[in-house]
Amino acid sequence: MPMLITPTRDNLNKIVVLNPKGGCGKSTIATNIAASYARQGSRTTIMDFDPQGSTMGWLDRRPSDLPVIHGIAAFKKTMHATRSWQLRIPDDTCNLIVDSPAGLNHDDLREVTRDAASILVPVLPSSMDIHAASRCIADLLLVAKIDRRDRKLAVVANRTRKNTKSFARLMRFLDSLGIPIIAVLRDSQNFVRSAEQGVGLVEMQPSRVRPDVEQLERIVSWLDGWAERRRNTTNVTGIRRQPSSRISILRKAQVSSA
Ligand SMILES: Nc1ncnc2c1ncn2[C@@H]1O[C@H](COP(=O)(O)OP(=O)(O)O)[C@@H](O)[C@H]1O
Ligand SMILES: [Mg+2]
Repeated sequence: MPMLITPTRDNLNKIVVLNPKGGCGKSTIATNIAASYARQGSRTTIMDFDPQGSTMGWLDRRPSDLPVIHGIAAFKKTMHATRSWQLRIPDDTCNLIVDSPAGLNHDDLREVTRDAASILVPVLPSSMDIHAASRCIADLLLVAKIDRRDRKLAVVANRTRKNTKSFARLMRFLDSLGIPIIAVLRDSQNFVRSAEQGVGLVEMQPSRVRPDVEQLERIVSWLDGWAERRRNTTNVTGIRRQPSSRISILRKAQVSSA
């Protein structure tokens, strides 16, 4: 796989949707966030690092009368262009949404999350998925050195009913780390239709998608706090450390699901 270089620019709202587990809803969430921003008239690019190319496929199916979203097929190897030329984002792009592949090595994880304003981890409710997500979060904090105090990291519970044992376990784990679950998406054919038709939930018949759009709006409004979160980062000394009590929780998560 090519190196996961992502471009840097001041004031770029870079959102990374990440979880090495396939099928947890990364592309679903990435495309729906993109459609929401595009509908607001905010210039949006999605960058697809997954060789399965679901996000690029969604963009190909997108009806031409809907707001334009720029797509970059970052999973493709270039023959003729340099990597940075292939990955260049249009100058007028305000929001960059990065859809990531299954299974990232440590270097890729650091690279893909570099300069991210927000990182979303979608999690399915099964205990296997929750294990995988716990390890993913542990890697983000320990390997990619995401500082929890920057509040860049959030979980989206996908295809979930709130009142299950496994959901309660996930909540406890995230609580202990101070990572918020910003939305709970239900299992709904609306997401399947959105994928099939190349549209976002916000572009579908409102009466059909209301509860799903409400959750999506929660995600977008959390994302929109990025500039504020960045400003409030307490990083006076420049020294970044996870409190040691938390590290042991994380190491346990890394080991137990390895
Ligand atoms: N909340 C949901 N309700 C119903 N189907 C969903 C939901 N989220 C995702 N799906 C479906 O599950 C499959 C996997 O989702 P996808 O977003 O492609 O996962 P990933 O990108 O993480 O591999 C897709 O067919 C998608 O339409
Ligand atoms: Mg995908």
